[in-house]
Amino acid sequence: MNTALSVTNGSFRMPRIGLGTWKLEGDGAISAVQAALEAGYEHIDTASRYGNEEAIGAAIARAGVSRSQLFLTSKVWWTDLEPGKLLSSIKRSVESLGSEYLDLALIHWPNPAVELSKTLGAMAEAKAKGLVRNIGVSNFPSRTLLEALQVSSEPIAALQCEYHPYLDQSKLLDICREHRIAFVAYAPFGSGALLLDPTITRIAETHGTTAADVVLEWLMQQEGVAAVPRSSNPHRIAANLRRGNVSLSQEEMSAITALRRSDGRVFSPTWAPQWDE
Ligand SMILES: NC(=O)c1ccc[n+]([C@@H]2O[C@H](COP(=O)([O-])OP(=O)(O)OC[C@H]3O[C@@H](n4cnc5c(N)ncnc54)[C@H](OP(=O)(O)O)[C@@H]3O)[C@@H](O)[C@H]2O)c1
Repeated sequence: MNTALSVTNGSFRMPRIGLGTWKLEGDGAISAVQAALEAGYEHIDTASRYGNEEAIGAAIARAGVSRSQLFLTSKVWWTDLEPGKLLSSIKRSVESLGSEYLDLALIHWPNPAVELSKTLGAMAEAKAKGLVRNIGVSNFPSRTLLEALQVSSEPIAALQCEYHPYLDQSKLLDICREHRIAFVAYAPFGSGALLLDPTITRIAETHGTTAADVVLEWLMQQEGVAAVPRSSNPHRIAANLRRGNVSLSQEEMSAITALRRSDGRVFSPTWAPQWDE
């Protein structure tokens, strides 16, 4: 079941589960996206940096899905945040995907060397030109997200950040709920590490389901949260969408939340900002 998440001034709707496509390239990306569309996915998450937008576009064209049925997200790499480069990057993404527009364009990572107001001004221009329907940010810590909210002329529809049971993101979640921003959890399985966690596998056994199902359910039982799990396997791609057979009790939710740890973050490259405490 892929229930729609509705946030931001009532007009922004995002399917809560999308296919993550980082590391999926060429034929691998084509077959994963085809499997996802056959399974009923409507939301695909990519980025100019992933080098797979053309493959994703080819898979969409082959599947013959109507554009209005799809929610496509792409991201602008942090070295392309000057207005001219940003607009070119978004145009390239739109063309590579074979789509007239993106449903959501995200700033992939902040770049303190470029004034945020200028970058967000260019994002607004992309929206005014019809290249993107909504704008958002990714990997922004709370102070940069608050700055974006202050300087952006357009609503920040979504924040995409790493989020899974090992990583506490309550500070960002509070801001997102207050400002009606969709929180998109990337690396929902911690790139796979969570799926071996003894607490999660025990809860999965109790429900006769998989660890992946339990982690996704933990995310879906949180207000305002969407997730973009990645799989290259058609069965797991379908399984990640067809969640909803499991309902976690308050005790189970709390036991999973208690798995958070100070070294739980998977993604912190050299260009990462200073994260929230
Ligand atoms: N904004 C950003 O900076 C950023 C950063 C990182 C990621 N992301 C986005 O988030 C997406 C997801 O994050 P991620 O790619 O790091 O990894 P992830 O979704 O946390 O985990 C992917 C791993 O889990 C396995 N898996 C998936 N479904 C499974 C299932 N049902 N049962 C068992 N194993 C399963 C996959 O293996 P198989 O392929 O073998 O199934 C793969 O090894 C990315 O693809 C990307 O779209 C965004």
